[in-house]
Amino acid sequence: MSYMDQFYGQVERVGVVPVVVLDDVKGADPLAHALVEGGLPMAEVTFRTPEAADVIHTMAEKDPDIMVGAGTVLTVDQCKRAVDAGAKFIVSPGHTMEVVDYCLEHEIPQIPAGVTPTEVTVLVNKGLEVTKFFPAGQFGGLATIDALASVFVGHRFMPTGGVNASNLKEYLSDPAIIAAGGTWMVKPKMVHAGDFDQIFKLTREAAQIVREIKD
Ligand code: 3PG
Repeated sequence: MSYMDQFYGQVERVGVVPVVVLDDVKGADPLAHALVEGGLPMAEVTFRTPEAADVIHTMAEKDPDIMVGAGTVLTVDQCKRAVDAGAKFIVSPGHTMEVVDYCLEHEIPQIPAGVTPTEVTVLVNKGLEVTKFFPAGQFGGLATIDALASVFVGHRFMPTGGVNASNLKEYLSDPAIIAAGGTWMVKPKMVHAGDFDQIFKLTREAAQIVREIKD
């Protein structure tokens, strides 16, 4: 099995990828624990704060049960820093050929984003089988994804942006969706308040919705 097939399998199994924006490494360990305990052992730690690489390092080191990747990766430099810190996959809100090619050359699992047929064509032609669809709500949600999926046969999407507990079931029920991503389980204010119990509960709720669909 190729490294990408293996990665896609992991993403599909977890069903929901929690998107994390953390500006203090102190929350990394309890956060990883809450996600694993809640049943979503995966996190996309976004490069939107200077602490992102440290957070990736801490989460990956302290909790071997969680698969930690990097999100909001816009440059090859960020990509390298993420991988050096222990990131196991790269996610971007759009895509650049530099980052896509760097990941392909170094066999780093990746989910770049696209929302138009032209953007998806570029990624399909690179051999990628999954596109992040961001921001999903604003770009037409499932209606747009289904229209794209009818053309890019077999290609699948990871909607992020506007996904939450109330529409997760609808997204995950669609065969064109491999998994959904979102911040609703890990709002920065919850981490700041040390409310890891709330993160655990929201994670468990999302994991239960995944199980309802997949089991
Ligand atoms: C992302 O980084 O993918 C988005 O910011 C997630 O969007 P959300 O906050 O609506 O979940």
